[in-house]
Amino acid sequence: MPPPLLFVSPAVLPVGSDAAHTTHGALMDLVHQLATSLGKAIDAKDPHTMAHSEEVAEVARHLALAMGLSSEMADCIHVAGHLHDIGKIGVPDAVLGTPGSLTPEEWVQMQDHPSIGAAILLPLACLRQTGIVDMVLAHHERYDGGGYPFGLSGSAIPLGARIITLADSLSAMLRTRPYRPAMGFAAACREIVRGAGSQFDPQVATVFLGEAMTVRGMLGPDRDAGTTVRR
Ligand SMILES: [Fe+2]
Ligand SMILES: [Fe+2]
Repeated sequence: MPPPLLFVSPAVLPVGSDAAHTTHGALMDLVHQLATSLGKAIDAKDPHTMAHSEEVAEVARHLALAMGLSSEMADCIHVAGHLHDIGKIGVPDAVLGTPGSLTPEEWVQMQDHPSIGAAILLPLACLRQTGIVDMVLAHHERYDGGGYPFGLSGSAIPLGARIITLADSLSAMLRTRPYRPAMGFAAACREIVRGAGSQFDPQVATVFLGEAMTVRGMLGPDRDAGTTVRR
């Protein structure tokens, strides 16, 4: 039996053909469904992180479009948002659930999650080819080079990852952490201003601030009540 059309690479079809567009669209639909499912799987490891991956995906897509990126690129960034923490599957539950600060050994284990996530996703060619694996790998890099796993800085960090970093930080700040209560939205915005140029790409931060009220509306009135997340 021939393989389903869904798994025919768009690369073998004439560029711009209806068949190529249909196949690519169907493949991206499937990728999005799988990413949503896997994002829910990682969020389900801790009931307090409910919908964190979904929230990051939604905010990241909105920011990507607000930055003028194509809808195709915004969709890829959205999928990477769903999948950004998939590597936490490989981090011991005892580390993820540790109340308070992590020990140096636990911190090393925690910092492995972007690399573990990229390794989990690497067999999926469409995620490699669209840059989604690289976005997952780089979602804890910092604009000033102080992040992990590689200490990349500035434009060496994929733009999608720079957008996800901000969306991820925003979502985390709005939720209760093991060592502090949830931050209000205005306070989180001030932290993003403070981190522009150090943790965050200043251009992404500027676009976020211009979209802040829209983003606040997307998050819903009660999504941050008493939830916990460890980035
Ligand atoms: Fe989604
Ligand atoms: Fe993460």
